[in-house]
Amino acid sequence: MYTNNNTRPPASLIFIFGGSGDLNHRKLTPALYNLFIDQWMPEKFNIVGIGRTQYSDADFNTFLFAGIQEFSRRKGEENGSWKDFSQHISYLQMDAEDEQAYQKIVEKVKEKEAEFGEHPNVIFYLAVAPQLVPGIAKKLGGLKICADAKTTRIVVEKPFGHDLQSAHELNELLRGMFAEEQIYRIDHYLGKETVQNILALRFANALFEPIWNRNYIDHVQITAAETVGVEGRGGYYENSGSLRDMVQNHILQLICMIAMEAPVSFDANEIRNKKVDVLNAIRIYSSKEVSQYAVRGQYSAGWIKGKEVPAYREEKSVEPESPVDTFSAVKFYIDNWRWQDVPFYVRTGKHLHQKTTIITIQFRPAPQFAFPPEAAETWRRNRLTISIQPEMDIRLRFQAKKPGQAMILNPVDMIFSYESAYKSQEPEAYETLLLDVMTGNATLFMRSDQVEAAWKIIMPILDAWNFRTPTNFPNYAPDSWGPEDAEALIAKDGRNWVTLPVPQNVNKSS
Ligand code: BG6
Repeated sequence: MYTNNNTRPPASLIFIFGGSGDLNHRKLTPALYNLFIDQWMPEKFNIVGIGRTQYSDADFNTFLFAGIQEFSRRKGEENGSWKDFSQHISYLQMDAEDEQAYQKIVEKVKEKEAEFGEHPNVIFYLAVAPQLVPGIAKKLGGLKICADAKTTRIVVEKPFGHDLQSAHELNELLRGMFAEEQIYRIDHYLGKETVQNILALRFANALFEPIWNRNYIDHVQITAAETVGVEGRGGYYENSGSLRDMVQNHILQLICMIAMEAPVSFDANEIRNKKVDVLNAIRIYSSKEVSQYAVRGQYSAGWIKGKEVPAYREEKSVEPESPVDTFSAVKFYIDNWRWQDVPFYVRTGKHLHQKTTIITIQFRPAPQFAFPPEAAETWRRNRLTISIQPEMDIRLRFQAKKPGQAMILNPVDMIFSYESAYKSQEPEAYETLLLDVMTGNATLFMRSDQVEAAWKIIMPILDAWNFRTPTNFPNYAPDSWGPEDAEALIAKDGRNWVTLPVPQNVNKSS
């Protein structure tokens, strides 16, 4: 993001560990392919998939092409741009645990250097299971090319650590091998167009910032709901749960975008400093307080969108008595001048009624109400709703006089919709993030202190939940909005969760 000219990145050699895996198949290669079509790939580049599976270059290509057909926003034609793009892909079969095998990488770099006639950026993308990350990082750190902080970069996927301690250890390990500016910790939410647009909305308009504080805002809500269950990822999810999977990273990052102070420049560190200030100001609860501020849930068996689905505890690789949360809701506070006493309610979960990620800024009521009482029957407070996905829009709700002889007020929405404002298709998050890695812009990536500050916030909740086994799981049905306690969390403050109607044209199955 924030690429303000049309120059392509310098020559790049991208090694993808986990080349034969799901992330590469669904997200990374489709993203690189779309960058290629949009002429954002470097003039000289090569992508090397690394994996243990035996593949010839041709078979690897066939595997990736199937991913394009299924997951890319543009479907490739085998003899069209895919053919040109695929000339830049090769496969390296190696065991990432075998130190000797890393010589193959060194040779590949030399080979491409000779072919390109220049030393390229060398990017190592670790699209592998989290337990493999330390071993790979250590072995890469031993290679001479990795000492070149200007051109060599390592990209680490989430989850970044399992808790504060392990995240800290991973940071220490990576820092021992690489300089901070070489490390790109991915949070794909930060690559989403609608998320980046929060900065434009807040800081490119004079309108919002003066009222963007505790004097005018009553509370903020974030809902990140999914209709899917754990989808065969039970093994991963058993070690994660919704709080680790969504709140520690994506949702806290959204809070940062909403709550941060205005940056004085778009320098990567400046933006990240402002975000980390928010994380450091979020109130950390004691274990006794957790039950007042956080709610967990797990889905039962049931029906969703006309399909019968098993309970979480019946999913593959899930323990029959699993205490893992598939839903969480938390009320956060940010203890600083701007946000003191303004609650930030967040909720996320699997198998919920609607696939939607929305942020709601609920304003306080007008200070005086001069209208006749009957005018107020349908009167509502101002509200700004930022729809991150699947719809992409921003709605400002205000009051209007209903046409007619009586003075009746009712709420109307002023809507900015991406679909009607812009004709071009927006890039996928991974396109933006991969382009940033190639150009060396770390603004949208997590710095080590951000990751640890985020873990500090959720550790007491995790610890309290870990200490007290849930007795009421499963406690919500598929196709609902989660457990009743989540309604109570907000209702006891006299508020309610905001949802928007499902639009007719949206695919509801995701
Ligand atoms: C991932 C989580 O980080 O984000 C998944 O591991 C979740 O469990 C996904 O489904 C949601 O991403 P998106 O972009 O579909 O909201």
